[in-house]
Amino acid sequence: MKAVFVTIFPELIESFFSVGVINRALDESIINFEVVNPIKFLKNNERLDDAPYGGGPGMLFRSEPLEEAINESKKLTSSNAKVINLSPQGKKLTQEKAKKLALDKELIFVCGRYEGIDQRIIDSKIDEEISIGDYVVTGGELPALIVFESIVRNIEGVLGDINSLEEESFSHQLIEYPQYTRPEKNNLGNVPEVLLSGDHKKIKTWRKKQSLGKTFLLRKDIFPKELSSDDFKLLKEFLSDLGYESDRIADLLKNINKK
Ligand SMILES: C[S@@+](CC[C@H](N)C(=O)[O-])C[C@H]1O[C@@H](n2cnc3c(N)ncnc32)[C@H](O)[C@@H]1O
Repeated sequence: MKAVFVTIFPELIESFFSVGVINRALDESIINFEVVNPIKFLKNNERLDDAPYGGGPGMLFRSEPLEEAINESKKLTSSNAKVINLSPQGKKLTQEKAKKLALDKELIFVCGRYEGIDQRIIDSKIDEEISIGDYVVTGGELPALIVFESIVRNIEGVLGDINSLEEESFSHQLIEYPQYTRPEKNNLGNVPEVLLSGDHKKIKTWRKKQSLGKTFLLRKDIFPKELSSDDFKLLKEFLSDLGYESDRIADLLKNINKK
C-alpha cells in the first residue's frame, strides 16, 4: 500500500514511519509513503490560511495550495487513488472500515489545519471524510496516521503474527479477553489458573466468556443483539461469577435473543 500525505508538517509523518512494525514494513516494501507539502505551491507572499467568509473565529486552509497539493499527490499515484480528508465531521473510523480500506493499493490523506479546509475542496476533491472520534484535535496528521495504521495492520506481512488480528478487539464484534504474562504471581495478583492449565479447549472457552462479559459490561453499544445458546450460557456464567443474582441476570439479558 502506498500512502501520500498532504501536510504542512512532513516531519510528523516521517517520524511515524521511523519506528516499530511500520518501519519494518517500510523496509520490506510492504508499505510506502510520500509527503506533499502545500507550502510548496504558495506564490509570492501568499499565506496558507485566510479568514472565513461571514466572519467567525480562526482561519481556514485556503483552497488553492491544497488543490495543487492534491493534484500533485494524484500524479504520485494512479488516477483512481481515493482521497481521504480527516475531519471530525467525517464518518467515524471502525475496524470494519479499516479492513475495507486495506484492499486499496493507494490512498491520499489530506491533513487539515486551522479551523479546517475550504468547503470547495471537500466538494470537488475529496472522496470520503473520516473522523477518529467525537472530539477535536489541532491537525489532521495524527488522525491520518491513526487511520493509516489501522488499515495497514490488516495487510499481510505488516504484523509478525497475522493471527493477532483474528483475536483482537472488534474482530468478532467483541473486545479482547484479559491477557497476562510472566510471572504467574506477583504483588498485584495471580494469573487465572485456567491459563496455566495447558488445556486449550478450556482456555478458549474462558477467553470467549471474558470477551462476552467485558463487551456486555463495557461496550453495550457494540454488543450483538443475538447470541448462540452456548455464548448466552457463557455470558450468564460470567455475570454469575461476578456475583449477580439470577433475577438480575435474567433482567440484564432480557433484550438479547438466543439463536
Ligand atoms: C481544529 S480542527 C478543525 C475543526 C473544525 N473547525 C470543526 O469544528 O469541525 C483542524 C483539523 O484537525 C483535524 N481533526 C480534528 N479533529 C479530528 C477528528 N476527530 N478526526 C479527524 N480529523 C480531525 C482535521 O483535519 C481538521 O481539519
